[in-house]
Amino acid sequence: MVRIAPSILSADFAALGEEVDRVRPQTDWLHVDVMDGHFVPNLTIGPPVVAALRRHTDAYLDCHLMMTNPGDHLKAFATAGANSCTVHVEIGGTGELIRAVRDLGLHVGLAVNPETPIAECEPWLAQVDLLLVMSVHPGFGGQHFLREAVPKIVRTAEIARRDGLDLSIEVDGGIDVDTAAVVAGAGADTLVAGSAIFGAAEPLTAAAAIRRAAESALAAHG
Ligand code: DX5
Ligand code: ZN
Repeated sequence: MVRIAPSILSADFAALGEEVDRVRPQTDWLHVDVMDGHFVPNLTIGPPVVAALRRHTDAYLDCHLMMTNPGDHLKAFATAGANSCTVHVEIGGTGELIRAVRDLGLHVGLAVNPETPIAECEPWLAQVDLLLVMSVHPGFGGQHFLREAVPKIVRTAEIARRDGLDLSIEVDGGIDVDTAAVVAGAGADTLVAGSAIFGAAEPLTAAAAIRRAAESALAAHG
């Protein structure tokens, strides 16, 4: 019903394999935050880490490309074993990027920052598999959930229902047991959580609690 996507950004990179294994029973997708130090002010990881994860786990690798020039690297992510690549609508060239990801045989995601109107994504919704609504300003884990994400989720869910789209709605940033219920109630089906999982004393239990909170909210909304 709900997908949980632990974000490795908050994991211990020196023990990444073990960290991923610990949460594997509650991992539907593994969220990989790629930051280029340009689109966002932080620098993280890229295709070599995706390749190492691919050798280590059969988990679905959900790559969130916070990059100004993802087009130059899509092939490297595909070769490394990514399952999906999500690009940001703010960088432009969206139609071309969607086609490029699709041509590589990957699932395609489109991400939208808190300050960007959801209307900018609407023309593309029928062409992507996933809309990623940012509920923090991208760049760092452990920030507070921004409520302006909620109407965007509601609007996207309405369009998907209206047009009969096979579209996942993923939310990323500040997700914990409380905000998980809020976004699942609004219509999100895939929840990214970094610090609330890997920062917890028991990451697996924390992921299960987030799933339960989201599923109860979903059930309450019918
Ligand atoms: C932020 C990243 C997120 C981040 C979420 O730029 O896109 O995926 O890891 O971390 P938390 O869950 O700690 O907000
Ligand atoms: Zn992310």
